[in-house]
Amino acid sequence: MRERKNIGEKTDLDLEREELSREESGQEEPGIKEKKSKTKTVTAGMLKVKIYPDAALKEPSADVEEFDENLAKFIDKMYETMSAHDGIGLAAPQVGVLKKIAMVEFEEVFYLLINPRLISQEGMQDGDEGCLSFPGIYAPVKRPLRVTVAACDATGAEVVYNVEGLLARAFLHEMDHLEGKLFIEHLSSLKRGMIRKKMYKRSTGSGY
Ligand code: NI
Repeated sequence: MRERKNIGEKTDLDLEREELSREESGQEEPGIKEKKSKTKTVTAGMLKVKIYPDAALKEPSADVEEFDENLAKFIDKMYETMSAHDGIGLAAPQVGVLKKIAMVEFEEVFYLLINPRLISQEGMQDGDEGCLSFPGIYAPVKRPLRVTVAACDATGAEVVYNVEGLLARAFLHEMDHLEGKLFIEHLSSLKRGMIRKKMYKRSTGSGY
């Protein structure tokens, strides 16, 4: 997942920027925002992030069964990739690996989610969400406010997390990826259609 700064509080500058990006992209739907992605830092261990409509993003992932050195190496590479793209979350299918591995980094705390399970959820929140597989696209998504998630760490030991707010949003966004579900599936069909069209246009250079 990618965080949009200043969630909830929009300054005049934000509003101006939004207006500008709407004008630039010729979009009329105020619920969907598009902004230019930051220049990426390319590093040696980096994996290639799959961009929608890549087929890998729609596949459900399999459980991790072996907690070995290969897993640890892959986690390092995923972390490097997430950091280089300035993301707050990344799931393995986004780099073409259909295994239940996801990670979130928020306020300098790293959370590894292997074979995660949602135990409980509470409340509701609304806020802008983005995804490294949809560069520069943000749209408001309703999510539970607080969640309890059980997951394995890199050694296979179970860890239980109680998280809320943006962190809960990021956990759920990444866990969706492991089921082949994308954040646009939480949007109205109109907004989803607009984003799809935009992404297909980028990938093919034409409408569809
Ligand atoms: Ni994502």
